[in-house]
Amino acid sequence: MELQSAEFICSNTKVSELPPAKFPEYAFVGRSNVGKSSLINALTRRKGLAKTSQKPGKTQLINHFVINKDWYLVDLPGYGFAKVSQKDRASWKRLVRKYLMERENLQCVMVLVDVRHKPQKLDLDFCHWLGEQGLPFYVVFTKADKVSSKIAKIHVGLFEQELLKWFEEMPKYFVTSAQNRLGCVELLQEIDKINREFDYHSAQQIIDKRNQDIEDQE
Ligand code: GTP
Ligand code: MG
Repeated sequence: MELQSAEFICSNTKVSELPPAKFPEYAFVGRSNVGKSSLINALTRRKGLAKTSQKPGKTQLINHFVINKDWYLVDLPGYGFAKVSQKDRASWKRLVRKYLMERENLQCVMVLVDVRHKPQKLDLDFCHWLGEQGLPFYVVFTKADKVSSKIAKIHVGLFEQELLKWFEEMPKYFVTSAQNRLGCVELLQEIDKINREFDYHSAQQIIDKRNQDIEDQE
């Protein structure tokens, strides 16, 4: 896929205020600091597009970006940040889960997992929850430049073993690095494939009909 444009559209705390669901959409989710925003920047080759930080908890809102004026990338706040209060943790859960369950143009959830670590319960629990909801997801391992390919392979294998306790087959996965763009071409190719199947016309018709209904009620 050729990247012609990548633009930030808006940040939201309300699912009801998201941009129109007229394009295929891909959400990046995972632990705080796992590299969601960095990977979005690497994929789009725009360094400052999504805000990154060494401090966990940088991304707090649902951030929409439009790529090539025909698909959405979404940067979500991370989970599992130790310094977050119980109350904020609960509100993260509510917001992100509501968004994932209700967003009708969402094609696939990218679950980012730090390849430097052995499988972590939080990541596995999140994958199980997606499975229970019937939401399609890919596992995107991050920070591969920080470990040897041997270690990366071992950790991917262990994660696979854990998921296979719950799922019949391992979802598609990618091993990536935001630093050297490892895996970025493959991930973009996959997105491109899904985009080609998206029915833009029907999505627009649904939006038009809804707008018409609202006008009629007024
Ligand atoms: P929150 O928004 O806080 O949930 O974090 P995030 O998941 O968006 O992580 P972010 O992209 O801000 O990256 C966190 C830190 O990890 C930053 O210091 C990045 O530079 C670093 N980082 C992210 N991806 C990579 C990578 O592939 N390789 C290396 N070496 N560092 C990375
Ligand atoms: Mg972020």
